[in-house]
Amino acid sequence: MKILVTAGPTREYADPVRFLSNRSSGKMGYAIARAALARGHDVVLVSGPVSLAAPPGARLLAVETADEMLKAVLDTVEWCDALIMAAAVADWRPARKSPRKLKKREMEPVLKLEPTPDILSSVRPRKGRRIFVGFAAETENIAAAARAKLREKGLDMIVANDVSKPDSGFDVDTNRAVLISADDATGQVELPLMTKDALADRILAWTEKAAAHFGL
Ligand code: PMT
Repeated sequence: MKILVTAGPTREYADPVRFLSNRSSGKMGYAIARAALARGHDVVLVSGPVSLAAPPGARLLAVETADEMLKAVLDTVEWCDALIMAAAVADWRPARKSPRKLKKREMEPVLKLEPTPDILSSVRPRKGRRIFVGFAAETENIAAAARAKLREKGLDMIVANDVSKPDSGFDVDTNRAVLISADDATGQVELPLMTKDALADRILAWTEKAAAHFGL
């Protein structure tokens, strides 16, 4: 299969040196890219700024902002059989970006924000028979909140991960997730704490099963 993976955070700039971002390290998305390559798939990895080496064999598209990630995904989505969105796209960005570094005295103590584009919703019209897998970073009512995102974003599957614990979610090597499918054939699977490499392999196995079920 041809698999498009997104990983890492985005950065949303207020001026050339100041930005809003989040704690995503890229570990989960890079583990998915490595697992996909190991299982014999072709991989394009769209990555926000992280300090990880690109997996050998993946085509890396390095981006910084949500707009850049959206463009990279739009440019590549028609190539892929499956899109797996592990990136933590910033939901908000500064409403104004100064082209030069703002002086402290020019800055206002309140930052006005505007929403970034929702990448999964934006690529939904190009879904066709492709498999779209999203992630849900949740701290409470994990499966229920993820099911709502699965429906809202028109996904085939969602990986609901618990980001409230120190050993799962952002910037650690382990994760705890529930895999939820829109289709009862691939069901809901509650997984224990495991390495991100092991979880990535489970996600790939699950994606392959869905692909076989869809006749891809
Ligand atoms: O990178 P690590 O340190 O390894 O951490 C892994 C992780 C916690 C970042 C990862 O496992 C994870 O949960 N990624 C998704 C984080 C997130 O943005 O969740 P969300 O519930 O806010 O978004 C739901 C889905 O919509 C996600 O697939 C997200 O990529 C996507 N999204 C979000 C915002 C946006 N503007 N466009 C999107 O497409």
